[in-house]
Amino acid sequence: MKASSFIIGAAAVPGALAWGGFGHITVGYIASNFVSPSTTTYLQTLLRNDTSDYLAGVATWADSIRYTKWGRFTSDFHFIDAKDSPPQYCGVDFDRDCKKDRGCVVSALHNYTTRLLDTDLRASERAIAAKFIIHFIGDIHQPLHTENVERGGNGIHVLFDGRNYNLHHVWDTSIAEKLVGGVRRRGPYPEAKRWADELTHEINEGKYASESIEWVRSANLSDPIATAMSWARIGNAYVCTHVLPEGPDAIRGQELGSDYYEAAAPIIEVQVARAGFRLAAWLDLIVTSLKTQEAPGDL
Ligand SMILES: *[C@@H]1O[C@H](CO)[C@@H](O)[C@H](O)[C@H]1NC(C)=O
Ligand SMILES: *[C@@H]1O[C@H](CO)[C@@H](O)[C@H](O)[C@H]1NC(C)=O
Ligand SMILES: *[C@@H]1O[C@H](CO)[C@@H](O)[C@H](O)[C@H]1NC(C)=O
Repeated sequence: MKASSFIIGAAAVPGALAWGGFGHITVGYIASNFVSPSTTTYLQTLLRNDTSDYLAGVATWADSIRYTKWGRFTSDFHFIDAKDSPPQYCGVDFDRDCKKDRGCVVSALHNYTTRLLDTDLRASERAIAAKFIIHFIGDIHQPLHTENVERGGNGIHVLFDGRNYNLHHVWDTSIAEKLVGGVRRRGPYPEAKRWADELTHEINEGKYASESIEWVRSANLSDPIATAMSWARIGNAYVCTHVLPEGPDAIRGQELGSDYYEAAAPIIEVQVARAGFRLAAWLDLIVTSLKTQEAPGDL
């Protein structure tokens, strides 16, 4: 497949497509490969889509409403701005970093998990909650969605294979798209599915097989904030080691398409794999809890 036959990058609306859409869709497909059959049935019904695309197809919805009048209240739900100082010190702190008035990705995951579990809410509201969870578990794994420096890297201008981008876009989109050899702007689904199937194989019997159980060990449905914080800390730590290893000024205006890319690509790969695997585990915990809530007499 020739990368040159594709339009690389989906930056028509700068910043609108976190993980370039492509990362989110891949996370959705990975999760659908791992959820239990009862989770599949439950969410296919709630999301009114009985195809195998039922998660991947809604994975970018939260970005599509973010800049609308209705969705404006969700714009801070996509990240948590860790006020650390990479590369000397990385660290996320819920009380310090989650905006009390506007929320953050951690409080949003708490809120929408609670709402998906609340069967007194209308199905349409619970479907919205599910779509937010599917998206925000993707976002929390992108290192620059857990970092405050220069608005999550949006203010750091760099080059990637000769093109101008900001660092945030490079981590959302450019690295992942280069990794798979280019993505069709109008139809990222087939490439995302193929990448998801490769990563699924790595989780099941490849390079992630020995560690993937560890990825979901901290998942505790009774404590969504602690769970989401444990995920946020992993991504944030990469800000010091791989995103800004020598600080922002060392990469400003620099070409990141070669050595920097080589070090960054495995991080993107493992974070997308973790996000998909953790999303599956989280959805399974939610659906299992919903099933045990149902009194036998109600069935
Ligand atoms: C299911 O989702 C896919 C991906 O978004 C979409 O193409 C398809 O039309 C949907 N099917 C139904 C029945 O809504
Ligand atoms: C929880 O979600 C509802 C529905 O989207 C929203 O109205 C509310 O502001 C959210 N609360 C928090 C604390 O994020
Ligand atoms: C899950 O969270 C609850 C509430 O914080 C806590 O009481 C419980 O010990 C946690 N479970 C595990 C296995 O950590």
